[in-house]
Amino acid sequence: MGWFPCSGGSYSKRNSKKKRKIKDPLSPIPLSSDKLRSNSSVSSNGTPNDGGSNQIAAKTFSFRELAVATKNFRADCLIGEGGFGRVYKGKLENSNQIVAIKQLDRNGLQGNREFLVEVLMLSLLHHPNLVNLTGYCADGDQRLLVYEYMPLGSLDDHLHDLTPGEKRLDWNTRMKIAAGAAKGLEYLHDKASPPVIYRDLKCSNILLGEGYHPKLSDFGLAKLGPVGDNSHVSTRVMGTYGYCAPEYAMTGQLSLKSDVYSFGVVLLEIITGRKAIENSKTSGEQNLVAWARPLLKDRKKCMQLADPMLQGQFPMRGLYQALSVAAMCVQEQPHMRPVIADVVTALSFLASQKYNPATQPAQNSLWVPATPPRSRKEGGDNKKQSDDSGSERSLK
Ligand SMILES: Nc1ncnc2c1ncn2[C@@H]1O[C@H](COP(=O)(O)OP(=O)(O)OP(=O)(O)O)[C@@H](O)[C@H]1O
Ligand SMILES: [Mg+2]
Repeated sequence: MGWFPCSGGSYSKRNSKKKRKIKDPLSPIPLSSDKLRSNSSVSSNGTPNDGGSNQIAAKTFSFRELAVATKNFRADCLIGEGGFGRVYKGKLENSNQIVAIKQLDRNGLQGNREFLVEVLMLSLLHHPNLVNLTGYCADGDQRLLVYEYMPLGSLDDHLHDLTPGEKRLDWNTRMKIAAGAAKGLEYLHDKASPPVIYRDLKCSNILLGEGYHPKLSDFGLAKLGPVGDNSHVSTRVMGTYGYCAPEYAMTGQLSLKSDVYSFGVVLLEIITGRKAIENSKTSGEQNLVAWARPLLKDRKKCMQLADPMLQGQFPMRGLYQALSVAAMCVQEQPHMRPVIADVVTALSFLASQKYNPATQPAQNSLWVPATPPRSRKEGGDNKKQSDDSGSERSLK
């Protein structure tokens, strides 16, 4: 992954030579926390109902158990690689459960903090649209996270990296994914107490289960949101280039509306099939939001925003409505963006309006692509990069 440090100069976390002294990152963290709790895991009489307490529910694994599960991290078990490290598919010996095991790169000590935040967040927060953390391993200097296995991979894989002949996502599935991802975010913003700012919403962090059921993953950058009258928390700028809200990128002021902006970028990717940042395109088309903005303002040109891979198979009204939601989410001014609950309402409605290509005409006759349909394999990336000057990853 590539992260963009605010002071310029890209940096790969995996190659970091700088090491900060961090004590055993697991020991100082209280295993029960009343700082963060999920409202939905607390019953009406105030007692948690998700297993008895706010205790960390994730199981601890030994390194050996996870080595056995992945046949000693064999190459054919490798299913992906991100900035944190490699991800393997594995089968737990005792339970036969299929899991995804993320192995933290041992060179990148910055990952320790993210590892810890991830374990804490996912142990305390539970929702059908958040990935489930089965457990973790902190054996010696090994750090591994064990998740439920998501058989359809990430949304990114389905939107941007189709191999020839691979099934493209249809309109109904796209709306279902968008609505589900919004619900996961709504849970973090409105049900968790205090609210959680996700801070890393992007297509590669939306994982897909059976039937394309979406779940948000990767909570290592998540932050507890503002409390009281405060509208934002101030923090170092971190995230992925192309998804970061402008006010956050410029001033470090992070709010729930920063996540809403990132959601808008994801929704634009879902509708257009384009990447948030596509370096292989001409300068006017590299940044998805900048390219889309003028088209979003002109109803006649909105059609050009539809993914050519949809081949005109989408409801015109649904397209306009989905684009309106995306346009509101990516507004420059954070206070002009909707709250995520309203986005959920709009997208749930859109997802319920099933498009049937057999009975509803394709938009082909009207549809003129803005640029010729592209090959899915062309370059461009939305990569993150790490900053080696501190404990957090940053963005530019
Ligand atoms: N629980 C899971 N089930 C199935 N596949 C997964 C799971 N978690 C991750 N993957 C796969 O591994 C890939 C890499 O994930 P990872 O989160 O490490 O990196 P990323 O999201 O691409 O980048 P970043 O590190 O910036 O978040 C994902 O794109 C996905 O295909
Ligand atoms: Mg990820």
